[in-house]
Amino acid sequence: MSSKTIAVKSPRKLIEVALPLDKISAAASHEKSIRFGHLSTLHLWWSRKPLAAARAVLFAQLVNDPGYERYLNRGVNKVEAAKERERLFRIIEELVVWENTNNEEVLGRARGEIYRSWRETCELNRAHPDASTLFDPNNLPAFHDPFAGGGAIPLEAQRLGLESYASDLNPVAVTINKAMIEVPPRFAGRSPVGPMPRDDGDSGLGRRDWPGSSGLAKDVRRYGIWMRAEAERRIGFLYPPFEIIEESVADRPDLAPLIGKELPVWLGYG
Ligand SMILES: C[S@@+](CC[C@H](N)C(=O)[O-])C[C@H]1O[C@@H](n2cnc3c(N)ncnc32)[C@H](O)[C@@H]1O
Repeated sequence: MSSKTIAVKSPRKLIEVALPLDKISAAASHEKSIRFGHLSTLHLWWSRKPLAAARAVLFAQLVNDPGYERYLNRGVNKVEAAKERERLFRIIEELVVWENTNNEEVLGRARGEIYRSWRETCELNRAHPDASTLFDPNNLPAFHDPFAGGGAIPLEAQRLGLESYASDLNPVAVTINKAMIEVPPRFAGRSPVGPMPRDDGDSGLGRRDWPGSSGLAKDVRRYGIWMRAEAERRIGFLYPPFEIIEESVADRPDLAPLIGKELPVWLGYG
C-alpha cells in the first residue's frame, strides 16, 4: 500500500437505494419447494440463504446506483436515474427466477452490468496510487465468504462471474463448499472418465460436448453405480431380499400391489 493515502471513490450501490423486494421474496419462498437440483438436496444446512436472495443481493451490491452524484461527477438526472433503476430491477427480477438459475443469457446480462459498474469505479479511481493493482478494469475483485456455511453466497458470486473463495470453521461446511465451488470449475467442460456401467441407459458414449459440470455429474453417477455394485458384491449376502406381506401394508398402503413379492433391500439410485 502506498504511504500516501488517497481515499477510494466508491459510487453508491443500487442496494443502498432500492430493491424489488417483493419479487425477490416471492422467488426466495418458491425456492423452498424445489426438490430437484437445489443445494438443499445435496446437504441440508441451517440458515442456508435462498439462492435467489443471495444472487439478487450480490448483484445489487456490485452494481452502481444510476442516481446523480455531483461530487463524483457522474450519474444522470432523477428521471433518467429512475428509468435506469427500473431497467436494473428488470434484470434482478429475471435473475431470481428459479428456472433462470443456469440461463446464460440472463446471467450474461447481469455479469455485463457488474463489469460496467466495475469499469466505472476503476475510471473514478484512475488517480489512485495503487490503481494498477486495485482498480484493473479487466479484473473484477475476488469474493471471499469467511462464514460460508451451506455455500449459497459464494456459489452465487461465482455464478455472477467473480472468482469466489469460501471458508468456514465447520469441516462439513468446508466439504460442501469444496464440492460446490472448488471442484466443479476444475472439471468444467471435461468429458467423464469413470468406469462405464453396464446398466446405465444414458452412458453418454459417443457424446463429444460436455458443457459446464455435465461431465463431472456423469462421473459422479458412474462411480456411484460402481460403488453400489461393489458393495452388493462384497456384503450383499448380509441383506437378503425382503418379502412384502399383509403386515407390511398396514403402515405403507402404497406397497399393497407388491404383496407376495420379494424386494431388494439395496437402495436404488436415480
Ligand atoms: C449462519 S451460517 C452461514 C450460512 C451461509 N451464509 C449460508 O447461506 O449457508 C454461519 C456459519 O459461520 C460459521 N462460523 C461460526 N464461527 C466461525 C468462525 N469463528 N470462523 C469461521 N466460521 C465460523 C458456522 O460454522 C456457520 O457455518
